[in-house]
Amino acid sequence: MILSSLPLLFLFFIYLLCNNARLAFSAACHPDDESGLLGFKAGIKADPFGKLSSWKPGTACCSWDGVTCLGDGGRVTSIAIVGDLGSSTNYLSGTISSSLSKVRNLDGIYLQDLRELTGPFPDFLFRMPKLLFVYIENNNLSGPIPANIGQMNRLIALSLEGNRFTGPIPSSISNLTLLSQLKLGGNLLTGAIPAGIRNLRVLTLLSLDRNRLTGPIPDFLGTLGELYSIDLSYNSFSGGIPAGLSSLAPKLMYLKLGHNALTGRIPDFIGKFTALDTLDLSSNRFTGTVPSTFRNLTKIFNLDLSRNLLQDPFPDLSVKGIESLDLSYNMFHLGKIPSWVTSSPIIYSLKLAKCGIKMRLDDWIPKETYFYDYIDLSENEISGSPIGLVNRTELLVGFWASGNKLSFDMGKLNIPKSMKQLDLSRNLVLGKVPAAVTGLARLNVSYNHLCGRLPVTKFPVSSFAGNDCLCGPPLSPCKA
Ligand SMILES: *[C@@H]1O[C@H](CO)[C@@H](O)[C@H](O)[C@H]1NC(C)=O
Ligand SMILES: *[C@@H]1O[C@H](CO)[C@@H](O)[C@H](O)[C@H]1NC(C)=O
Ligand SMILES: *[C@@H]1O[C@H](CO)[C@@H](O)[C@H](O)[C@H]1NC(C)=O
Ligand SMILES: *[C@@H]1O[C@H](CO)[C@@H](O)[C@H](O)[C@H]1NC(C)=O
Ligand SMILES: *[C@@H]1O[C@H](CO)[C@@H](O)[C@H](O)[C@H]1NC(C)=O
Repeated sequence: MILSSLPLLFLFFIYLLCNNARLAFSAACHPDDESGLLGFKAGIKADPFGKLSSWKPGTACCSWDGVTCLGDGGRVTSIAIVGDLGSSTNYLSGTISSSLSKVRNLDGIYLQDLRELTGPFPDFLFRMPKLLFVYIENNNLSGPIPANIGQMNRLIALSLEGNRFTGPIPSSISNLTLLSQLKLGGNLLTGAIPAGIRNLRVLTLLSLDRNRLTGPIPDFLGTLGELYSIDLSYNSFSGGIPAGLSSLAPKLMYLKLGHNALTGRIPDFIGKFTALDTLDLSSNRFTGTVPSTFRNLTKIFNLDLSRNLLQDPFPDLSVKGIESLDLSYNMFHLGKIPSWVTSSPIIYSLKLAKCGIKMRLDDWIPKETYFYDYIDLSENEISGSPIGLVNRTELLVGFWASGNKLSFDMGKLNIPKSMKQLDLSRNLVLGKVPAAVTGLARLNVSYNHLCGRLPVTKFPVSSFAGNDCLCGPPLSPCKA
């Protein structure tokens, strides 16, 4: 009894000690920290969400929202102010005041999703000797990334993602040899990936997506043995997937190269990336077949090969649960929906537009329909009816099946409440347009054999054109 309660007592004393210590620290606020933080606040012109409302002179700055203190003397070591991209009021507008440089012990600065912070790269960061983590993401900073960025050579993470930085990625980046994460996506950066990136030996994550970068994907990326995540999508990179990348097997988990101008075949070595979770090669000009080594990608959850020039045969994958798949707009003739898709217990997005699928939709019984959000089977030779399939989904948001041979009574289609987009244009659909379509954001039932009075909707004429005898607004009035 006594023995067993001893550790508890001990813990209680520790608890008291810590609590007192915390009180002692939080009571004080180093005057430099206080004036530095209040200087930052003064640079903020609008804070409609009151994110900085706890930042008041004479109060304990360690307990202000977003402020963390650690270590002896309770100096401020990080500030983390995070907005919400989905909220119209949760942002900050203004500039990042250089008085933050008085907060000398800062090791992390996280100003994320604040949207309306403007101005150039904050130069005072160069005068912060302890800074390790910089995340200035989804704001509205502009101008160049300083050419001497390499002087911040203690940095472990640098993210300037989602701003409007212009110009090249400075070559001095080669000096940031301790970087584990480099995220520069969503800016207006131009030029090639600098050769100095090869010096970033401990880089685990590289994202340069959504810029205007050009040139080849450098072969040396393969020498960065810790890399598990690469996102170069939405740029203008050209050339092939370099052979050097194969050295990143088996670690690589995330590879996005979509929306570039890449050419050549998909290399066999992709199949060596057995940990790969996400592969996006969409909207490039890849040719040839998909390597049979893809069978070894047993962990792939998200696979997007859409909008290339890929040919048959498509390998039979042995993935237990694909989550999202897009093979649309290549030169495939899949014939049917692959069994590894039909059997997936977790799939939420299936896009197989123009994949040469010939079947009756009624015959397709996926193992699990609960998670389906998106199904795109446009431009195939699919007959029969989607009524049963759609009725088995509960969360379906988009169903696209234009350009098939679907033939069913639309009046019997049970449109789920979740559905926002429905395209059945250019099929052989019969019957009436049900009133439930009024809840959709987009509808297209043009070029079918529909008939009867339209429900009152906001859809344009082209949503209904080319049917047998539809009438009522926006088409011509029904005959009495
Ligand atoms: C960013 O700044 C530009 C130019 O000053 C402005 O046009 C744009 O609306 C700003 N974006 C946001 C999200 O505030
Ligand atoms: C690289 O870092 C060294 C110190 O480690 C520094 O002397 C040099 O100026 C830096 N170079 C650049 C280009 O920033
Ligand atoms: C899959 O990996 C195994 C062992 O790593 C290898 O022997 C086999 O050839 C690979 N299969 C394909 C289709 O690449
Ligand atoms: C839709 O599903 C419900 C129950 O899940 C079932 O009762 C109904 O008959 C189905 N309707 C159609 C048209 O398949
Ligand atoms: C509906 O589809 C037809 C044929 O595919 C197309 O021409 C028309 O622009 C589409 N209308 C809407 C509103 O999507």
